[in-house]
Amino acid sequence: MILEATHINKYFKDPERHQVLHDVSLQLHDGELISVYGESGSGKSTLLYILSTLDTDFDGSLQTQGRDIKSLSSIELTNFRNEHIGFVYQFHYLLPEFNVLQNIMLPAMKLRDRTKEEIKADAMTLLEEIGMKDLAFRPSYKLSGGQQQRVAIARALINNPNLIVADEPTGNLDQKNTEMVFELLKDITENKGKTVVMATHNPKIYKNSHRAIEMIDGFVRL
Ligand SMILES: Nc1ncnc2c1ncn2[C@@H]1O[C@H](COP(=O)(O)OP(=O)(O)OP(=O)(O)O)[C@@H](O)[C@H]1O
Ligand SMILES: [Mg+2]
Repeated sequence: MILEATHINKYFKDPERHQVLHDVSLQLHDGELISVYGESGSGKSTLLYILSTLDTDFDGSLQTQGRDIKSLSSIELTNFRNEHIGFVYQFHYLLPEFNVLQNIMLPAMKLRDRTKEEIKADAMTLLEEIGMKDLAFRPSYKLSGGQQQRVAIARALINNPNLIVADEPTGNLDQKNTEMVFELLKDITENKGKTVVMATHNPKIYKNSHRAIEMIDGFVRL
């Protein structure tokens, strides 16, 4: 098991206090591709923020990769997250003026656990795996949406995290690119043993995931 969330309740205080997650408990395992689906506003993004340790303001507990997230100081948490969790979003947030290679290298340059040359070599390997080696030196704004999203996935993998959290990674892609990105995420789980948890509205995706979790009004139905 790579992650265990236990009895998570989440409240937002704006405009008045209201409960957005209700007693969510779930376990994620190594090598699993899990989709979270459900209506807009059902709490998918809120849950993913908590699972990816970006939001620690919740009731309940979150254990992942040997840590009790709430017991970490904010510096410990930042370091832990950079090292152990990769993120992919609907809007990939690549830096447009940086080239593809530089974008992928960025999280590793922040972590500083390898030399720049080592990071570059690792980024090139990832580019090869996503079939985009030829585009390494192109500025990221000159890529198609699907290519940008594949680069965003490579960027999420550069620090070799075991857990990848993706919020609607195919949200603004056409069918062909959606399939390509989905296959890439699936490959990461099946061939690299990583765990991917993603929010999606796409039935083709959640039906073809290893496991699909439905959210209804802040409750999960496993
Ligand atoms: N920062 C916030 N402050 C107050 N309420 C919020 C905040 N963020 C989200 N909410 C509310 O929490 C609920 C869940 O939102 P969330 O973004 O998790 O839904 P979602 O399932 O990801 O929806 P979508 O499919 O549209 O992305 C919604 O009712 C939303 O209005
Ligand atoms: Mg959302």
